[in-house]
Amino acid sequence: MLRTPICELLGIRLPILQAGMGKFKGLVTPPELVAAVSNAGGLGCLGATGLEPEELRQAIRRIRQLTDRPFGVNLIIPTRMSTRTGTRAEIRADIREKYPAHWDLVQRIFREEGIEPRTIDKEYSLTEEMTAAQTEVVFEERVPLFVVALGDPGAVRQRARDAGMKVAGLAGTVRNAQRQLAAGVDFVIAQGGEAGGHVGVVSTFPLVPQVVDAAGTTPVVAAGGIADGRGLAAALALGAQAIWCGTAFLFSDEVDLHPVHRAQLRAGSSEDFVASRVFTGKPSRTYHNRIHDAWASAKLDPLPMPHQKVLMEDFLDAARAAGRLDVVSNPSGQIAGMLEKTRPAAQIVEEMAAQAEAVIRGSMSYLA
Ligand SMILES: Cc1cc2nc3c(=O)[nH]c(=O)nc-3n(C[C@H](O)[C@H](O)[C@H](O)COP(=O)(O)O)c2cc1C
Repeated sequence: MLRTPICELLGIRLPILQAGMGKFKGLVTPPELVAAVSNAGGLGCLGATGLEPEELRQAIRRIRQLTDRPFGVNLIIPTRMSTRTGTRAEIRADIREKYPAHWDLVQRIFREEGIEPRTIDKEYSLTEEMTAAQTEVVFEERVPLFVVALGDPGAVRQRARDAGMKVAGLAGTVRNAQRQLAAGVDFVIAQGGEAGGHVGVVSTFPLVPQVVDAAGTTPVVAAGGIADGRGLAAALALGAQAIWCGTAFLFSDEVDLHPVHRAQLRAGSSEDFVASRVFTGKPSRTYHNRIHDAWASAKLDPLPMPHQKVLMEDFLDAARAAGRLDVVSNPSGQIAGMLEKTRPAAQIVEEMAAQAEAVIRGSMSYLA
């Protein structure tokens, strides 16, 4: 059976981690998905970015009702925020005053798409207060694995160690990985630019071996463009000890995706999943739609976090309410071009592991 040292570290049977995926206003990775992956021997992870602290607590408790196996929570904790405080109303007022061209662009998109403007009925946004409150819940609930994206895991490392929790950081460059290693993470997830969601520009194949070389004895997990046993075997060959898959689990029965978005993923080719700063201010890979074109032709610089997100979330919320999922962001990686059928998450895990074993055994026959 496929087993690497990180399986020991995390108390799991198979080196397959389901990536935490937080989507605008809700859960892509509901407790049912997280628990299914953990119960299958991998490690499920809740993408908690869009959850208010109490929603996060309830989701963690629900996972615990569904599994007694280890699982994770993934949060985006940006290092640099444009604002410490700020309700959405305050941030909106700031945008209107300081960035009128951005405001006008979104009003024009509303008109051109024939969508009635409205503001989102959720108060929290990605501010320092919000991420601090979410982090508090992760500690209070003693989640086995805390995965920190974008930010500095050093801020939470000691507290996690004291609580017996593991911490991992997501890195898109070697420099970023070095920062995470210096902060003392238990392992680094090296995420290539072909991934879904927020991405850098270095692809998985050049990134992973460089991070492995930089990491010394700290385990590295490979992410970005891995969706079957061939990808798992390749990741292990590059020196990774496990994989962190997002897009693959967008094709699970348990994932929480609108049927229009499921259909886009099924039909999309790899080149339909493009990186743009339009939705959050940071490059994020999503299924290409008309909003990408409107943003590109406006030639504006993205607003700092969380302004761009607050600006666009009003539009996304209105579009969703109007049933216009065709213009709502649908994050996914390039590997979606290879995937079609939806299956139970447990089956995805089992088939990946079985195929990787077959690939590794088969590759031995190349030896003379
Ligand atoms: C729908 C979706 C939402 C995501 N949301 C987050 C998130 O909230 N935080 C985060 O750190 N990464 C997020 N990611 C990135 C994943 O954690 C993971 O690194 C990535 O999916 C791996 O590449 P793959 O999509 O090719 O498997 C998201 C990815 C997708 C597809």
